[in-house]
Amino acid sequence: MIYQIYPRSWADHDGDGIGDLPGITSRLDHLVDLGVDALWLSPFYPSPQHDAGYDVADYRDVDPMFGTLDDFDRLVDRAHALGLRVIVDIVPNHTSSDHPWFRQALASGSGSPERARYVFRDGQGNEPPNNWTSRFGGPAWTRVPGPDGGPGQWYLHLFDVTQPDLDWTNAEVRHEFDTILRFWLDRGVDGFRVDVAHGLAKADGLPDLDPTIDPVRSPTALQPMWDQPEVHEIYRHWRRLVDTYNVPGEDADRILCAEAWVEPREALARYVRSDEMHQSFNFNFLLTPWRADLIRASITDSLKHAADVGAPQTWVLSNHDVVRHATRLGRADATRTVITSGIGTDDPQPDPVLGLRRARAATTVMLALPGSAYLYQGEELGLPDATKLPDAVRQDPTWLRSGHTDRGRDGCRVPVPWSSNGPSLGFGPGHPWLPQPDVYAQLAPDRQRGVPGSTLELYRRLLRIRRQRHLGTARLDWVDPVTFGAGEDVISFDLVGRDLRVVANLGATPVDLPAGSEILVASGDLESGRLQPDMAVWLHPVD
Ligand code: GLC
Repeated sequence: MIYQIYPRSWADHDGDGIGDLPGITSRLDHLVDLGVDALWLSPFYPSPQHDAGYDVADYRDVDPMFGTLDDFDRLVDRAHALGLRVIVDIVPNHTSSDHPWFRQALASGSGSPERARYVFRDGQGNEPPNNWTSRFGGPAWTRVPGPDGGPGQWYLHLFDVTQPDLDWTNAEVRHEFDTILRFWLDRGVDGFRVDVAHGLAKADGLPDLDPTIDPVRSPTALQPMWDQPEVHEIYRHWRRLVDTYNVPGEDADRILCAEAWVEPREALARYVRSDEMHQSFNFNFLLTPWRADLIRASITDSLKHAADVGAPQTWVLSNHDVVRHATRLGRADATRTVITSGIGTDDPQPDPVLGLRRARAATTVMLALPGSAYLYQGEELGLPDATKLPDAVRQDPTWLRSGHTDRGRDGCRVPVPWSSNGPSLGFGPGHPWLPQPDVYAQLAPDRQRGVPGSTLELYRRLLRIRRQRHLGTARLDWVDPVTFGAGEDVISFDLVGRDLRVVANLGATPVDLPAGSEILVASGDLESGRLQPDMAVWLHPVD
């Protein structure tokens, strides 16, 4: 069980309105109380923050905004003392345009070794080298001045213009990242979440994208910038490197986790073959609409494809790039799958009650599934996205680059509340970098701790039972809901040998629970012992 901390927004110690490492260290008890095993820190490296730190200018330091390397060491020491592992984010697809390498590349001419670390190409006349687009909108190429000050070469950036892609065919790039991985492993980290893991290798010759292919909705297998076979050699090499820090039988838990938005699922499974990474986020599950048949199919296929390569599955419902599940599932059209675009004041507003009810049920299902799972900060409080942020405060580059058509991801990145009153609801003494919605006061932990039925207590209980019953290593057997008089809108499965059955009702009418069982935990209140729509339970058999 791994908990994602987005450092800007978890706890602000120095009062500048932006979270920091000392803030995180001061709040680690929350994670012990919650019952997770590890935390993953989104980037805290020196960065001009054009993409909230995913634009790294120095891979071996801490941005003064977040603290110092000593603060980092203190965080790791404290986490380890509390029995928590620490995973850091590594961003190998691109650097910041402020990185010394990119400055050197600009200062050197075409064909220079400095440029060869990135993807610089001549254009086609006045047009870019190919038709690729940036994930944040607009072309994926930007032109730089030539030696005479006129238009020169173009560089590739699959993301923001300030995030030039590195060329992973370059030996110097590969070597540099070996030393970066070692730098953090030597400081005691327990693993890496690998940003844009499917992007490092590009198809030979950088061919045009077939114009009939929609880069957002089409399988990445059809797109020359994603999921090229050569990425796997990089991760095999990284695995060997990480394994030199793993002492078999003793302290062998250092891991790699891929952020790879790839389809089909066989392609995703390739990232977790036994000699590659340990985990790969299952975004298919996260993207699955709220429908029993689709969720069943996603779980079945996900387990199968992971098992085919002998790996556990890695479940996730929210992160810093998507609309939080408590909001997503409350949209009028809960079958929508485009979920990275945030909601604004003039958009239809989701139903917060329905959203939270479904989110609690979804989490109750997820936390029973075999494998590992990631939680995103604040989901244990039932936080919704901020859906009424003034556009003027938005910072996600998507908003600007899409020409103000895509609101991007600020809504899920708002500072979390720690108390129901006080400046920035206990986030810190300063003015938070994004304003918190009013409802965050009611959802603060001081309102929920020890309160039966609260979202925080639901998560704590699910996590406790998950740990006690070793659900992560259990086998899942589907139960036909017809056997207890329920219909196809109900999902039910057993965790074999763990005395645990899950029942989730995604239909519109209440259902009876199977006879001969008692409720261990429920995502909401049952009425007359019947499972209400959009609720889930964990059951224990009784004789
Ligand atoms: C990953 C990160 C996202 C970032 C992008 C570019 O998808 O999760 O936040 O914008 O990579 O680095």
